[in-house]
Amino acid sequence: MFLRRLTLQNFRNHTETDLTFKSKLIFFIGNNGEGKTNILESISILSLLKSFRESDEDQVLKWDSDFTFLRAEFESRGEDFLFEYGIQKQGIKRKRIKINGEVIKKVADSIGFFKSVILCPPDLAIIEAGNQERRKFIDSFISSHNQTYLQNIIEYQRLLKQRNSALKKENPSVQEIEIWNEPLVERDAQIRKERQKIISELSIYFSKNLSTLSNGKDNFDIFYKPNVSSEQEHREKLIKNLKKDMAIGYTSCGSHRDDIPIGTQERDLSHFGSQGQKRSAVIAMKTASFQWTKENTGEAPVLLIDDIIRELDVKRREYFVELISGCDQAFFTTTDLEGIKDYIGSLDFEREIYEIESGSVKRRIEL
Ligand SMILES: Nc1ncnc2c1ncn2[C@@H]1O[C@H](COP(=O)(O)OP(=O)(O)O)[C@@H](O)[C@H]1O
Ligand SMILES: [Mg+2]
Repeated sequence: MFLRRLTLQNFRNHTETDLTFKSKLIFFIGNNGEGKTNILESISILSLLKSFRESDEDQVLKWDSDFTFLRAEFESRGEDFLFEYGIQKQGIKRKRIKINGEVIKKVADSIGFFKSVILCPPDLAIIEAGNQERRKFIDSFISSHNQTYLQNIIEYQRLLKQRNSALKKENPSVQEIEIWNEPLVERDAQIRKERQKIISELSIYFSKNLSTLSNGKDNFDIFYKPNVSSEQEHREKLIKNLKKDMAIGYTSCGSHRDDIPIGTQERDLSHFGSQGQKRSAVIAMKTASFQWTKENTGEAPVLLIDDIIRELDVKRREYFVELISGCDQAFFTTTDLEGIKDYIGSLDFEREIYEIESGSVKRRIEL
């Protein structure tokens, strides 16, 4: 993957930013709040079709502006792609995505073209905040290369919402609740199968990475504990829990309650891990997703590395340099030039440095 050109219009604090990239390593330097992460956020939208840090997509529109527009030219396996993404506040069609000039009708159809892996401070939540964040991470990872999975997730959530609103009604009939059971069971089985497969594949990379990062000290793994383990069990549980579900107004079993333990079989890192172990686990996990993608698609994702240099000690920095060597292109943010050396050590790849101030970006000419 290689991003050649990126244009932002009214995206966060960028009124008009137009950048052409020729190097493997791209650095954005600036003080806090100048608009560095905003650029990485815009690049991540090319992969996820949504922001990695925002669930309300209207928030990315520049304040007081009624539209935002992203345009990107990138190369994937020798082929050129043009990606356009626009959100209009008024008008009939709010959001519009085009790939190579063609309008995309379903969001799922635009997934998988631009591959990226982001590393940023909020990632720590994957380890610390428990299963909901872990499901979110795994779902977004699988969805980034598997459109069927994304459709199953969207459909499962829709069905769940329907069943829950039936449960919340006053005196609902059993029939109007149970009508959702079988469709949920079907989607759940497909989601479970895919989560099972990906987690067991990721775990191989994860535990190896973590062992390298800790000089063999941290022997942790990632596991999958589905809430129901078969379609039959799911059917039975939905029926058994009916009274309870009616009392709480919520469906209490299914893949929205799956656990993804990280640590050992008995204990979870979120409970016993030191800050350093948790940080290593995050890096090991993100690197695992990078390695998985590279091996399974034959193409390295673009790395988006947001301001995590201060969190890395010497060992983790060495590890980082190796990760960076294995990609085609990496984008970094840091507050000062020192940060560059800290990120890449003595790596001698072509690089470009940009300075950002109040959403305006200038190339820094290196002497
Ligand atoms: N929708 C928006 N419109 C205009 N400015 C915004 C919007 N959202 C955030 N900002 C501004 O963007 C800046 C934060 O940008 P960010 O890229 O996170 O900074 P940093 O350089 O520290 O990574 C802040 O000054 C914030 O006020
Ligand atoms: Mg930032």
